Order: sequence, then C-alpha cells, then structure tokens
Amino acid sequence: MWLSEKFGSGVPVVGAPMAGVSGGRLTAAISAGGGLGMLGAGSAVTADWIRTEGAIAAAGGKPYGVGLMAWSVAEQPEHFDAVLELKPALVSLSFGNYRPYVEPLRQNGIVVATQAGTVADAQEAIDAGVDVIVARGAEAGGHGRNAVGTLPLLQAILELTELPVLAGGGISGPRGLAAVLAAGAAGGWIGTAFLTCQEGLTSQPVRERVIEADETDTVYGTVFDAASRAGWPDEFGGRALRNAYFDTWEGHEQDLKSDDAGHAEYVEGTKAADPARASIYAGQGVGALTGQPTAAEVLAGFATYRTYLSAALNDGSK
Ligand SMILES: Cc1cc2nc3c(=O)[nH]c(=O)nc-3n(C[C@H](O)[C@H](O)[C@H](O)COP(=O)(O)O)c2cc1C
Repeated sequence: MWLSEKFGSGVPVVGAPMAGVSGGRLTAAISAGGGLGMLGAGSAVTADWIRTEGAIAAAGGKPYGVGLMAWSVAEQPEHFDAVLELKPALVSLSFGNYRPYVEPLRQNGIVVATQAGTVADAQEAIDAGVDVIVARGAEAGGHGRNAVGTLPLLQAILELTELPVLAGGGISGPRGLAAVLAAGAAGGWIGTAFLTCQEGLTSQPVRERVIEADETDTVYGTVFDAASRAGWPDEFGGRALRNAYFDTWEGHEQDLKSDDAGHAEYVEGTKAADPARASIYAGQGVGALTGQPTAAEVLAGFATYRTYLSAALNDGSK
C-alpha cells in the first residue's frame, strides 16, 4: 500500500487539510491514530500560524502534511516559505496555478499532491509532475469543483494514470473506504468525517449543527466566497451546509461582492459562530456524524474496512 510505504500509515486514510478545522492538534492526532494528518492552511492564516501549528503537528514524531491553496500562496508567498522550513512529508497545493511550487517541494524531498475535480485537472497534474493525485468528487466538503461525483471521477483517473490516486468526497465510514480501495485507490482523502473530532478547531455551535445535519443539507456555490471577500477564484465554489444566509444571497453573488452590509453580516456571523450566517463547510457524508469522537476513534472505525472487502468477496454475505 502506497500510504504505508511512503508514510508508515497503518490505516489508508489521509486526514484532508481543512482550513479552520485541522490545526496542529488534529493533524498530530490523525497521524498518531494511524492515518496521515494534514494541516489546513487557508488564506486567513499567517506564516507564523503555519510554523506554530506545524510544530504541534510534528511534535508527535509522525509524518504529517500541509494543505495550501495555490491562489492564496501566489498572494502570500511567505506561506510557501514557512512550509518549506517545516518540511512536512506531504504538501498539497490545489485550486489555482500550483505548477511553480511542485519542483521546489520535490527537491526538498516532499511528496506533492493536488486535488483534481475533472479528468482534465488530473492530466494537468500529471504534466505538472505531482506525486499523487486526489480524485476529489463533487460530494466533497469545502472548496473544489461541482463537476463529477467521486466514483466516476476516481475510475476515470485510475484509467488515466499509473500514479497513486487518493479518493476524496463522501467517504464517511469504512464502507466507503472499502469501496474506493476496491476500485484501486491508494487510500481515502477524508475531511468531513473528522469535522467534529475533539482535537479539531470547530466551534461548539458549529459542531452541534453539523451533528444535526443530514445528507441532504449541503449546498454548493460561491455565496460564502462573495461574502468573505477572501479572494477565491469564481471557478471554485464550496460545499457547505445550507443556511438562511446562503438562501438570501443565492443567485445574487455578484451583487454580494460589493454589498458592505452583506459582507458585515457574514463577518459578524462568522465571529459569533452563528450557524444561520456563517459558512459551515461539509460534504454529503455529514449525515453520518453522530457525536464528537477522538480522531483515534474515527480512524479505528475506518480501519474496519477489510470486513466489507471480505464480505464483498464472499458474495456479500457476512
Ligand atoms: C471544513 C472544510 C475545510 C476545508 N479546507 C480545505 C483547505 O484548507 N484546503 C484544501 O485543499 N481543501 C480543503 N477542504 C477540502 C478537503 O481537503 C477534502 O477535499 C474534502 O474534505 C473531502 O471530502 P469529504 O469532506 O466528503 O471527506 C476542506 C473541506 C472541509 C469540509
């Protein structure tokens, strides 16, 4: 298995980078639990935040990764410098022109990943020289494309390349992990399933809303990006829980970009962690979240994937 050979992971799960959720503690906890944790460094953090949280992630002595947004790194190159100093085992660069960063990372012995939402994205990743491709389907939480679901995308990318391919989007438990491994994925790239972990940065009101949500409660769009003014390219929307703020502004994203009151309401809602106004990024697997486990507990659940693989080989009988 690629993940165990490269990083010593006992469970074929990468804890996907999640800005605002996966700080150093969650990252370290996922790596300690047998997966590969990843720090989510969004556009709002400083280079010092990356250094501090990276040190926390590294303190457990296990390999870990860092996820950067390519469009944001172009604006804040100090984020990239901080990551090069940390030398994590894996760095993902997604959403924007990541090409210039691939060689410097590889020269430092860092494995490079990117998230692809279409076969064309995957082809670009191959041409750019990445080490591992994430087939990130439309049902995934957070930003990306809404073009193709995880299974058709994964199958098409596996047909395209000999590179290792991780599957991201909608893997909410060991059944989903078994499915993508059976298809040929090198592992799962999993975010939403770790959203309510005790070690994460998710606020309490958001945890409660996420636990309540079912699989039909997510929406995809650019409303929250228009509201935040963080600088997300329009090409990449995000999947989040539907709320009153989204409903008000859906279809009026261009107006929202220059609406100061709308922006202020979003900023206040975010500060107050108000589920009706803040963006709560989550994928369709959110319906499976029932409590606030430790990362080790989530990983122990994923580690049972072999049961489902064996059952499938025995004509589905258990
Ligand atoms: C709350 C949240 C924040 C995210 N932040 C980032 C991020 O900072 N960088 C990134 O590359 N992907 C980010 N993602 C996307 C994840 O890396 C991953 O593609 C996704 O979580 C996989 O699908 P799943 O949520 O269905 O497991 C985020 C996802 C969520 C749910």
